[in-house]
Amino acid sequence: MHDYEALIAAARKSRENAHAAYSNFRVGAALRATSGRIFGGCNIENATYGLTVCAERVAIFKAISEGERGFDAVAVVTDADSLTPPCGACRQLLWEFCGDVPVILANYKGKTETEAMRDLFPKPFDASNL
Ligand code: THU
Repeated sequence: MHDYEALIAAARKSRENAHAAYSNFRVGAALRATSGRIFGGCNIENATYGLTVCAERVAIFKAISEGERGFDAVAVVTDADSLTPPCGACRQLLWEFCGDVPVILANYKGKTETEAMRDLFPKPFDASNL
């Protein structure tokens, strides 16, 4: 199923809850589980700055902690003109929990782009290295 509109809409909705008081850069993410459930996340900053958790990881932790396993798409939404790809730390976790899924990047001007995780995260360190 390649209809990503619902996933982008969920990422936008989560973005409304972003706690980005320090960077003012609000991010929403959403994961689609193979069960069909969608899990949203927003970035959550705090006064230490360094303990910030990105929207993608919040969505992953929500889904995993709810017992969900197996995902088939991820969306990331910001209002930046150039689309926002997941940071390095999030790529590591997206690879671990979602594998080679499509990552749909979107903004509020109708711009979208889909990247494969294998392209965003070539030569990963993962369980196959252990
Ligand atoms: N951020 C995300 O939530 N996801 C990304 O893909 C990129 C960065 C957040 C972290 C921080 O709260 C803010 O954006 C600026 O880096």
